[in-house]
Amino acid sequence: SRATVTDTFNRPLQDLRISVTDRCNFRCTYCMPQEIFGPDYPFLARDELLRYEEITRIARLFASLGVRKLRITGGEPLMRRELYRLIAQLKTIDGIEDIAMTTNGSLLPREAQRLKAAGLQRVTVSLDSLDDETFGRMNGRGVKVETVLNGIEAARAAGLTVKINMLVKRGTNDGEIVSMARFFQGTGHIVRFIEYMDVGNTNGWRWDDVVTKKEILARLQAAFPLEPVEANYYGEVASRYRNKETGDEIGIISSISDTFCSSCTRARLSADGHLYTCLFASEGTNLRDPLRSGATDEELLAIIRRTWQTRTDRYSAERSAAPQPHQHKKKIEMSYIGG
Ligand code: GTP
Ligand code: 5AD
Ligand code: SF4
Ligand code: SF4
Repeated sequence: SRATVTDTFNRPLQDLRISVTDRCNFRCTYCMPQEIFGPDYPFLARDELLRYEEITRIARLFASLGVRKLRITGGEPLMRRELYRLIAQLKTIDGIEDIAMTTNGSLLPREAQRLKAAGLQRVTVSLDSLDDETFGRMNGRGVKVETVLNGIEAARAAGLTVKINMLVKRGTNDGEIVSMARFFQGTGHIVRFIEYMDVGNTNGWRWDDVVTKKEILARLQAAFPLEPVEANYYGEVASRYRNKETGDEIGIISSISDTFCSSCTRARLSADGHLYTCLFASEGTNLRDPLRSGATDEELLAIIRRTWQTRTDRYSAERSAAPQPHQHKKKIEMSYIGG
């Protein structure tokens, strides 16, 4: 039987986002700026990372509390060796209906088939620009657009459902909103435009860099006949729109201008086994130490249940209500928690 756990604002625990590494082969300026994430950056050590068996045990406990959806994140999750073995283990968990992954796509040509065979259903690939110069600058490593397009094609060919995430930053890639939507027209890959968020403390976020949902939508509406579509599920972060003529769907993720904290159902597990109840949290709950010192399932469940039941996070909603964003607040980094 499946219990449902709710927090102090009555939000049910429905999704678990699992970060499997804090490392990445890209250095996106808005996520892992290379000046900070350089050769001396203290990435997690190998024995600090949860092993696949440990992740699976925790995921199984979450499933027993009502979680149905798992999303694998990083850093770049495919930097973790033989990730398909984790997917295969997660696939055996009762109650899990959806296993997805958020990736930069660069390693998909090598991994897509094994991931699909292991039971992965969906990938969301980040792609911020179709222009090599702009994209190379944004990813901080000069990675070419074609590298990511090859990954998207490999995922499609393997039978994975594909979505595209485009982070929109003013003056950098906001001129490409319409062309990105047009590029993926007819492919069935939903493009989602993401407002640039003040996650972490290293990306130098400024209000002026944000292109709001209203503005993104206005540009898209000038090019396509769009109608709004109902959310796919409770707590979906993207607002959906459909092209009335072609049926193509796009999404906008407005965590700055139109927040979705009131229906936030997501828990996040870091690669080193800490449980976070918000993307903007400063502290997590350590699950790894009890796990490694022999805690029973009941003891671990009690920690997880208590953490969710006492949850009060609503960072984005508070940020919108405040005259200035809480930029002095200590926050975890996006590469550590996977977005
Ligand atoms: P679907 O299962 O396809 O609906 O995926 P998703 O949109 O939940 O996941 P994805 O990893 O693609 O997230 C898209 C963007 O939304 C990323 O930039 C995330 O950081 C952001 N996002 C996802 N969940 C939250 C959240 O709870 N709060 C905030 N502020 N942003 C979130
Ligand atoms: N604001 C919004 N989205 C971000 N992402 C990474 N950093 C940020 C940020 N500061 C996105 C990536 C990827 C997803 C996991 O999170 O573009 O699609
Ligand atoms: Fe890597 Fe994704 Fe962060 Fe870019 S946004 S640095 S690809 S984890
Ligand atoms: Fe959930 Fe925190 Fe994002 Fe609000 S800011 S939607 S509480 S993760």
